[in-house]
Amino acid sequence: MQTALYHELVDWYPLLDARENHADEVPIYDALLAAAVEGPFDTLLELGAGAGNNGYYFRQKRTCTLTDLSTSMLELSRAQNPECEHVAGDMRQLRLGRQFDAVFVHDAIVYMCTPEDLRRAADTAFVHTRPGGAALFAPDIVRETFREFHEDDACDHTDGRSMRYIAWVTDPDPSDSTYRVDYAFLLRDQQGIRAVHESHVEGLFSQATWIRILEEAGFQVSLGERPLDGVEQDHPYTPHVFVCRRPH
Ligand SMILES: C[S@@+](CC[C@H](N)C(=O)[O-])C[C@H]1O[C@@H](n2cnc3c(N)ncnc32)[C@H](O)[C@@H]1O
Repeated sequence: MQTALYHELVDWYPLLDARENHADEVPIYDALLAAAVEGPFDTLLELGAGAGNNGYYFRQKRTCTLTDLSTSMLELSRAQNPECEHVAGDMRQLRLGRQFDAVFVHDAIVYMCTPEDLRRAADTAFVHTRPGGAALFAPDIVRETFREFHEDDACDHTDGRSMRYIAWVTDPDPSDSTYRVDYAFLLRDQQGIRAVHESHVEGLFSQATWIRILEEAGFQVSLGERPLDGVEQDHPYTPHVFVCRRPH
């Protein structure tokens, strides 16, 4: 799915998700990985690193390789993480031919819409995790916590641009493995205000399906907790992440 948000609208992405939003959660993910990795934890590969907002905080302690399907998103990441290696690639197929102490997959995993695609991403994480290393998957939502909802937000950038947006999350077909997010953006710059609507289709799997697929890829899986501070009370985001050890 080619989405405007990660391509034509990429200059607006920092108004949708500021780096500072990730300052609290990355240390939690880093600590979960550090507890799971046997031996040194120096190198980290991120699949679907996007604008590199997580990467910015990981790179304070680790040597990071940041990958994403969108070269435009990788440009945003390069700007804020110039010392990191950046590689364009699809998390379902990427093969770098080397292994890392840790592999991290954040919200980009929602674009795996079928169990087969989720398995491909799990395989990619597995082949890039060294024996004794660990991977962490942090999907936004699992089947157990899903419900339809909407959220809105506003950002007035220091460069004079402003964004107002609503994200409307629905499940048109509860029998399949996806839900839908309709974004409506109002974008104001010196030219005036324009409206953009686009739909994203995202994957929805039960916790049991997640664990089965990650175990089939070869990982030993446990659940980790993440705080959802700053997220509105009435939300369906899961507080759990999947911590995956690659056995020797
Ligand atoms: C919400 S953004 C990720 C932002 C990231 N968490 C950060 O810290 O900036 C989602 C990203 O998933 C990427 N993506 C979607 N499908 C992908 C795939 N099959 N492989 C790799 N990246 C993918 C998009 O290009 C987009 O950059």
